[in-house]
Amino acid sequence: MLADAGSIPAALGRFDVVYARFLLSHQTDPLGVLRELRDLCLPGGVVAVEDVDITAMFCDPPSAAFDRSTALYCQTAIGRGADPRLGRRLAGLFHAAGLEQIEAGAVHPSFRDGEGKLMAALTLRSIRAAVLAGDLIDEDGFDEILDVLKNTEDFSSVIAPQGPAAPLPFAPGGSDITAHVQFGPFAEKARALGLAADGPITQAEFFGRLGMVERAARLMAASPAGAGQIEGAVQRLLAPTGMGSQFKVLIVRTPRLPSPAPFA
Ligand SMILES: C[S@@+](CC[C@H](N)C(=O)[O-])C[C@H]1O[C@@H](n2cnc3c(N)ncnc32)[C@H](O)[C@@H]1O
Repeated sequence: MLADAGSIPAALGRFDVVYARFLLSHQTDPLGVLRELRDLCLPGGVVAVEDVDITAMFCDPPSAAFDRSTALYCQTAIGRGADPRLGRRLAGLFHAAGLEQIEAGAVHPSFRDGEGKLMAALTLRSIRAAVLAGDLIDEDGFDEILDVLKNTEDFSSVIAPQGPAAPLPFAPGGSDITAHVQFGPFAEKARALGLAADGPITQAEFFGRLGMVERAARLMAASPAGAGQIEGAVQRLLAPTGMGSQFKVLIVRTPRLPSPAPFA
């Protein structure tokens, strides 16, 4: 039977297993469709859904055209009321639909060669009309991006998303959301936009300029029992091979405001 997943005829009956892949991220009412899928399922049965978080797609080495194609996909989908990052919401939607014993997982295939590396190009090509209709880019610009994506030799790998990428709301404190930020280019971009930027400087320099070592020395003198712990914490925060150099501080501000204390 061919039917709209948003209003499935009762005549279809009910099933032990109901499965949908890459369906919900195209809907304007994904919860409504999921409820339909739930109602198709017999009591005690299984509803299994796979869907994307398109922003989890990346390639190496980084490519501006690749990132732009992801942005075009997102803008087009969002403009049509869909959610290109739905994958990460799946567990929450299952909960909202009243489903029980919810399990969530993420699948993140990567392609070193073969057809998989063409996924970004094929995806973009298939949404060509929708992107152009959205006035997000002109035809020449679109084709330029597509050409880059087709030259898969330029990418050593393409990583595609297929499932919830960030189960953060369900595992507070259990997910690592560390990001490696390129502070230098970030500061340059801010300056190019007419903002003022102080730094980046390392965390060790930042805390040093704020007088961390002197403050710690005074604290240690005031509470000798805790001195060892304070010294250990200071060392950890300033470690040149760890947090002291890995973590950086960058201030982006309107040029009307003066540089804050550690940078003045
Ligand atoms: C990205 S494709 C996924 C196809 C296939 N399930 C797979 O995983 O390869 C999305 C499919 O969902 C269908 N679709 C989207 N909304 C639908 C709806 N409300 N009812 C039925 N089919 C729908 C589209 O026609 C399209 O075939």
